[in-house]
Amino acid sequence: MLNVSNLKVSYGQSEVIHGLDFSVPRNETLAIMGRNGMGKTTLFKSLIGILPLSDGEVAIDGVNVSKMDSYQRVENGIAYVPQGRMIFPSLTVQENIETGMEVSKLKKIPDEIYALFPVLRDMRKRKGGNLSGGQQQQLAIARALVTNPKVLLLDEPTEGIQPSIIKDIANVLNEIKKMRDITIIVSEQVLSFTMAVADRIIVIDKGTFIHEDLKENVNTDKIKKYLSV
Ligand SMILES: Nc1ncnc2c1ncn2[C@@H]1O[C@H](COP(=O)(O)OP(=O)(O)OP(=O)(O)O)[C@@H](O)[C@H]1O
Ligand SMILES: [Mg+2]
Repeated sequence: MLNVSNLKVSYGQSEVIHGLDFSVPRNETLAIMGRNGMGKTTLFKSLIGILPLSDGEVAIDGVNVSKMDSYQRVENGIAYVPQGRMIFPSLTVQENIETGMEVSKLKKIPDEIYALFPVLRDMRKRKGGNLSGGQQQQLAIARALVTNPKVLLLDEPTEGIQPSIIKDIANVLNEIKKMRDITIIVSEQVLSFTMAVADRIIVIDKGTFIHEDLKENVNTDKIKKYLSV
């Protein structure tokens, strides 16, 4: 569903992502884990088209999107939940979700969305900026889901969120996977969360993949070591 080859990304002269190759099939959840500053956000921004590739190719469901703008990539089936959520604070919850619906031509927020996130129905008239961090995270996921993505990217969805809500978010991702044909890629530093959602875990270090395990084979001590400074 997502095929990435020789992906390189630079800020000016400084290359931060060094020729990554990976593929993620339909219905797989892949976790990309790494410490602060290892390149997770840079990788995700390049996949969604906020940052240009300096080399390599990104294909979604067989379509090369490498040269496309973000909105065209979204039309081709990739959606992005940014680190820090980035919801629109002055729009209501409902309006925030509706900003995702232009692409999918939905007229009304599907019941499925409010079934996944009942709190968003209760708060649909409130301003996004007045929600808690966990609620904003749910809102950002809802906004991404109404684009009907084939590939959903989530950049550190548990950052700054309290443990009970982290569990809710893990449950929601597992629920989404059951409901839809979807590929999920999540960047994370919290191993308990990725163990609850991922089929496969890759560790990124200074813009290079240094370790990969299927969930059933994960050596948690080894991954914890990679994640500690
Ligand atoms: N706009 C920028 N200009 C120059 N360098 C940048 C810029 N953004 C990030 N970097 C550098 O690129 C590297 C990767 O940063 P990135 O934000 O992708 O890491 P990350 O894994 O997402 O970290 P975190 O877990 O803290 O979010 C870091 O060395 C960072 O300093
Ligand atoms: Mg980041």
